Amino acid sequence: MTDLPYIIIGSGGHARVILGVLRLMGEEVRGLLTLDVKRVGDDLLGVPIIGTDGKFSLDRAEVQIINGVGNRASREGSGLRMRAEVTARYEAEGFTCASVIAPNANIMPEVTLATGVQIMAGATLQPGASVGAQSIINTNATVDHDVTIGEHSHIAPGAILCGGVTVGALTHVGAGAVIIQGITIGRNCVIGAGVTVRKDVPDGKVIT
Ligand SMILES: CC(C)(COP(=O)(O)OP(=O)(O)OC[C@H]1O[C@@H](n2cnc3c(N)ncnc32)[C@H](O)[C@@H]1OP(=O)(O)O)[C@@H](O)C(=O)NCCC(=O)NCCS
Repeated sequence: MTDLPYIIIGSGGHARVILGVLRLMGEEVRGLLTLDVKRVGDDLLGVPIIGTDGKFSLDRAEVQIINGVGNRASREGSGLRMRAEVTARYEAEGFTCASVIAPNANIMPEVTLATGVQIMAGATLQPGASVGAQSIINTNATVDHDVTIGEHSHIAPGAILCGGVTVGALTHVGAGAVIIQGITIGRNCVIGAGVTVRKDVPDGKVIT
């Protein structure tokens, strides 16, 4: 943790949610870097989009960054690789992508959170839960006891992971999906919105 002002990478819906949390916490956000050059000069919640990601030089002594790149899951895949690539690029330049935890998230004792996790409003994490680096636990998602989530995954709004579930890296669990207790979901999977999963899911599978 540092006191430096934030720069958010991204300028879409996910960046906006992160910005909302940082605002609620009274943090200073100096600007956003977009992946869409046409957005430079616009603003998000009054914070300027100051440049294009990858083409704007940042000083580690002056700012800290948060990965605000969202993903659009499809039958082709989770779309989370781009987020992971953005993190890797900034890490190669010596940055650490900071985490963001909404003040109204319910994080119980004995929860393990890796670097750069993003826990949004109303999410609940129960004892023994563990979240891998850069993963998103989105609005009102439930991560019950002893759930393990890999790196760069996204548990979308309102999804419920029951006790002892394991989710691999780069996997998208869709909004409102329910994963019953003890299930293992592999890497690079997509669980469709609203789906109930009652059997283990191998790597790379899309379930609707
Ligand atoms: C599963 C999913 C990834 C498929 O996306 P897609 O590749 O764009 O697929 P399409 O929307 O073209 O749908 C293809 C077919 O699958 C069906 N389908 C899509 N999602 C489904 C779901 N969640 N449950 C059941 N059926 C689904 C569609 O009805 C369609 O059927 P049809 O061909 O008979 O009409 C997507 O629908 C989904 O659920 N994404 C997660 C959304 C989410 O979590 N959002 C939170 C953002 S913060």
